[in-house]
Amino acid sequence: MVDAAHIETDLDPTALNLSESDILGRLKEIAGQIDADYEGKDLLLVGVLKGAVMVMADLSRSLNRHVEIDWMAVSSYAGTKSSGVVRILKDLDTDLEGRHVLIVEDIIDTGLTLSWLVKNLKSRGPASVEIATLLRKPDALEMAVDVKYVGFDIPNAFVVGYGLDFNEKYRNLRSIGTLAEHTYS
Ligand code: PRP
Repeated sequence: MVDAAHIETDLDPTALNLSESDILGRLKEIAGQIDADYEGKDLLLVGVLKGAVMVMADLSRSLNRHVEIDWMAVSSYAGTKSSGVVRILKDLDTDLEGRHVLIVEDIIDTGLTLSWLVKNLKSRGPASVEIATLLRKPDALEMAVDVKYVGFDIPNAFVVGYGLDFNEKYRNLRSIGTLAEHTYS
């Protein structure tokens, strides 16, 4: 039987590994900060599909307050991230006028998607727009992005699991890691 525990053996045990409890522990800490920072304010969490699904589920459930949750789907034009131009595949259902918006992401790589997205959401008249990301790769950054909450800064390696995919697979892993060579060679 192939289940998420079984496919975990596709990860390289000698490379970066964030276990489910590492991830959940860090998300709880971030949730505590968010609870404090947004006390007395309404809060709209905006998840970016598809990678942010797991982070949104666990971060939002660690909050000790009411939130609204909405989703966007975006894609880079012509399949390349280098232009920094992003196409909206699914827009928000929510009017952002006067709202406190917190974008929830799984990973910031080059920063191109998020810098475009922040600019786009800020043009809709919100009270504030901030970012929470589980992972950030400082060495891959091409565009500076102001990130309020970061789970882990990680090396510039290809990681999968906990929402992050390789050819649409591995999103359902509970942990995050690097694929072992035998899985793609
Ligand atoms: C990932 C991630 C961000 C983006 C970050 O999404 O969720 O949206 O890449 O990369 P950047 O900093 O280089 O712009 P991806 O395009 O892999 O789509 P997915 O979430 O559907 O897997």
